[in-house]
Amino acid sequence: MKIAMLARNAKLYSHQRLLEAARSRGHDIEIIDTLKVYMNITSHRPQARYGGKSLTGFDAIIPRIGASITFYGLAVLNQFEMMGVYTLNSSEAIAKSRDKLRCLQILSRAGIGLPVTGFAHSTQFTDDLIDMVGGAPVVIKLLEGTQGIGVVLAETHRSAKSMIEAFRGLNANILVQEYIKEAGSSDIRCLVIGDKVVAAMLRQGNEEDFRSNLHRGGHAKSIRITPEERSTAVRSAKLMGLNVCGVDMLRSNHGPVVMEVNSSPGLEGLEKATNVDVAGKIIQFLESRENRENRKTSSKKKVAEKSAEKSLEKTPEKGDEKSE
Ligand SMILES: Nc1ncnc2c1ncn2[C@@H]1O[C@H](COP(=O)(O)OP(=O)(O)OP(=O)(O)O)[C@@H](O)[C@H]1O
Ligand SMILES: [Mg+2]
Repeated sequence: MKIAMLARNAKLYSHQRLLEAARSRGHDIEIIDTLKVYMNITSHRPQARYGGKSLTGFDAIIPRIGASITFYGLAVLNQFEMMGVYTLNSSEAIAKSRDKLRCLQILSRAGIGLPVTGFAHSTQFTDDLIDMVGGAPVVIKLLEGTQGIGVVLAETHRSAKSMIEAFRGLNANILVQEYIKEAGSSDIRCLVIGDKVVAAMLRQGNEEDFRSNLHRGGHAKSIRITPEERSTAVRSAKLMGLNVCGVDMLRSNHGPVVMEVNSSPGLEGLEKATNVDVAGKIIQFLESRENRENRKTSSKKKVAEKSAEKSLEKTPEKGDEKSE
């Protein structure tokens, strides 16, 4: 296969591992700097260009689009989709999952376990908002936050109220969430590929922090997940329409609750904690899809050939033609 990986930083562990895995399986892969692609949006021959040349002939795109360039990155990915190139995760699915609120709304409609979550524009009914999610302590999250920055624990009703008012005073969009104390400063990351969880790790926060992010000093280890956790992860991926994603959940007293679905999961922590060749499994997924496509086209071709043969058999002799 000829694969393009849309990414900014070629040196990142995840990107290096994907390159390595694809090359070792005999594929031709290159990294394309997402922000350097420009495009020609025309109805008959849409094009993506890079360094003065047209990007053509790719069988698949692996999108690794960072949160800070979501807008442009998804436009580039969508351009490849318009050109008929297969993308590991579609631009539509990535857009859906990037919006944390929308993601929770989609999962909630399907009955996936979630921490009770509130969202409001006005601060007029903050008391009710806090009560609605079960009262203090509550977790307050900046919608645009990542790596644990912008996630705070408010221990009392009073502090929750003043934090919410302060964030809203700065016009920040925040979620107010039930605090899952029993998770004990840990969360679970399940890596889903297709309809399988291929690796799972437990991240444990350090003693002073309720957040388990590895960037905040948390530690990761491999774990066995329960069948319920497994099906929650797979169903969440399916609902978001993502072929590859990281599903983050907390172990609550009422079963697994999903916090987020990440469309560009980092591989380093997970591969090192579990020893699973996640990069290899992602490339294998692309291969199996490519094989399916090839089988489909060849069976379509066979059907077309058969019907052509039949119509030849049926072609009446000239003398049989009805006169007009
Ligand atoms: N409702 C909650 N109850 C208990 N702990 C929570 C809750 N929400 C978040 N946490 C803890 O805080 C950490 C960070 O929260 P979250 O994953 O929502 O934000 P983030 O990591 O900043 O965002 P992203 O995952 O998009 O990078 C979680 O990994 C988890 O350990
Ligand atoms: Mg997180």
